[in-house]
Amino acid sequence: MAEDLKIIEGTKEDQYKSLLPQIKGLLEGETDIVANLANVAAALKEQFKWLWIGFYLVKNTELVVGPFQGPVACTRIKKGRGVCGTSWAEAKTIIVENVEKFPGHIACSSLSRSEIVVPIFKNNEVIGVLDADSELLNHFNETDKKYLEAIINEISFD
Ligand code: SME
Repeated sequence: MAEDLKIIEGTKEDQYKSLLPQIKGLLEGETDIVANLANVAAALKEQFKWLWIGFYLVKNTELVVGPFQGPVACTRIKKGRGVCGTSWAEAKTIIVENVEKFPGHIACSSLSRSEIVVPIFKNNEVIGVLDADSELLNHFNETDKKYLEAIINEISFD
C-alpha cells in the first residue's frame, strides 16, 4: 500500500476519479474496519479539505461516532434525529444545501453550512453512515453522492 496520497486540483469529478483508485489501494489486503474507515476519512479530508468527514456506526438504537477527520463531534445520534439519523431511518442518501433549513439538523460545529450523509448497507440493513460537512453553502451534489456511494462500496464490512 502506498502511504502517501496524490492530491490533485480540478473539477469535483476529476478529484474523485483520482481518489477512488487510491482508496482502493489503501483498502487492499486490509480487513480491519477501524483502520479502513480511518484511512478513507483521512483520504477524503486530504483531497477535499471539508470541514468534517467521517463515519457513524449503528450500535443498538443509536449511531455512535466512528473514525473521522475534523472538529470533535456529537458522539451519539438517535434514529430519525438530525441528517444522519434521518439518512439511517430512510435508508437513503441525503444532500442538505443549507443546514439551517433542515428541521432537526444537529449542529456539531457552528461552521457547518451544508452536508451530505450516505447510508452504509450490509445485508439490506443500514449499519452506519458516512457524513461530510462543508463550511460552504450548497457544496454537495449528485457527483458527491455517486462517488461517495462508490467509495463506501469498496469497504468490506464483514
Ligand atoms: N449534522 C449531523 C450531525 C453530525 S455532525 O455534523 C458531524 C446531523 O444533523 O445528523
